Amino acid sequence: MVHQEVIPLMKPYKMGQFELSHRVVLAPLTRCRSYGNVPQPHAAVYYSQRTTRGGLLISEATGVSATAQGYPEAPGIWTQEQVEAWKPIVDAVHRKGGVFFCQIWHVGRVSNNGLQPDGQAPVSSTDKQITPDAESGMVYSKPRRLRTDEILGIVDDFRRAARNAIEAGFDGVEIHGAHGYLLEQFMKDSANDRDDEYGGSLENRCRFAVEVVDAVVREVGAHRVGVRLSPFADFIDCVDSDPMALGDYMVRQLNKHDGLLYCHMIEPRMVDPSQDAVDGRRQIPHRLLPFRNAFKGTFIAAGGYNKEEGNKMVADGYTDLVAYGRLFLANPDLPRRFELGAPLNKYNRSTFYTQDPVVGYTDYPFLDEETNDSNSHA
Ligand SMILES: Cc1cc2nc3c(=O)[nH]c(=O)nc-3n(C[C@H](O)[C@H](O)[C@H](O)COP(=O)(O)O)c2cc1C
Repeated sequence: MVHQEVIPLMKPYKMGQFELSHRVVLAPLTRCRSYGNVPQPHAAVYYSQRTTRGGLLISEATGVSATAQGYPEAPGIWTQEQVEAWKPIVDAVHRKGGVFFCQIWHVGRVSNNGLQPDGQAPVSSTDKQITPDAESGMVYSKPRRLRTDEILGIVDDFRRAARNAIEAGFDGVEIHGAHGYLLEQFMKDSANDRDDEYGGSLENRCRFAVEVVDAVVREVGAHRVGVRLSPFADFIDCVDSDPMALGDYMVRQLNKHDGLLYCHMIEPRMVDPSQDAVDGRRQIPHRLLPFRNAFKGTFIAAGGYNKEEGNKMVADGYTDLVAYGRLFLANPDLPRRFELGAPLNKYNRSTFYTQDPVVGYTDYPFLDEETNDSNSHA
């Protein structure tokens, strides 16, 4: 009998009440194909393609309210129509034995008046506008600073969205506290210039995020809640002068909830996983280790991982699970390819955020369908 060594990424793991059969997680990926902010039937194809029995999937970021939107055709979960539209998608994942979490977000000032109800200004911690991005051509409108008495209303939007996600059948929710969106606009000192109890000290800046976590945990239970954080990131004018203190403070707040399911953190630098390893940029720098050590629940790391780094980090105990974004986007059967050591499809950046229901979305080939064409590379 041939004995095949199981690679670390393919080892089972018990995350709370979920028996995961491996460690390869689908990272949340905005795909802009939910017309009118309503998830569409093609999403059931897309997500079920990426489902394995006992595999964890995290949905694309999903708006908690009409003011939460910043990308065209991104889904929401604040109306009954949206909840109903998610149900068959969640069902498709469950039928194949997957565990499916809904990532809930509010973009804050990463938006423009055209995407806001009645053409209003996007809301934020601040009225400082994001510097226009010459590369992407993105222009964000000048935001309106939320009044102190409005903030609890937004906390409540997160609570209701979490309730709706459970009603739609999701196994849990991931609160999006990363990448420069509303929670980070409060948490990070480059974007928070408030002088009320939501600004100033670290505790004050984290108050809104902590209130969101507390409200969501109260609503659906800590065993169904994960939180994504990126203390080291500097996206969209959101950067903190002391990321170690910020990450440490937030992990300690999460630990206050007994059984809070997972903490999902972004590596300091998002490298391109299709880059050659020769330049050494694929090496994970271990900077999340203090947070991993401090957090009591499951730890998920993401950002620039390939198979080798993922295996190494799981074997080292640096993380429990690894979330893959771009590689999973382009390889619907990524766990199987890792297991077999098979070549990977290349991702096509130009179709990341386009609206086609098939192209660049559900047409990346599975291993079995592959021909020897330019779609695959070693
Ligand atoms: C097309 C695209 C869409 C993304 N959308 C989201 C999102 O909705 N929510 C989120 O937290 N991160 C989002 N990200 C970040 C990914 O979840 C992931 O952290 C990032 O791609 C780094 O991982 P990778 O190197 O494995 O791709 C997105 C990334 C890409 C490329």
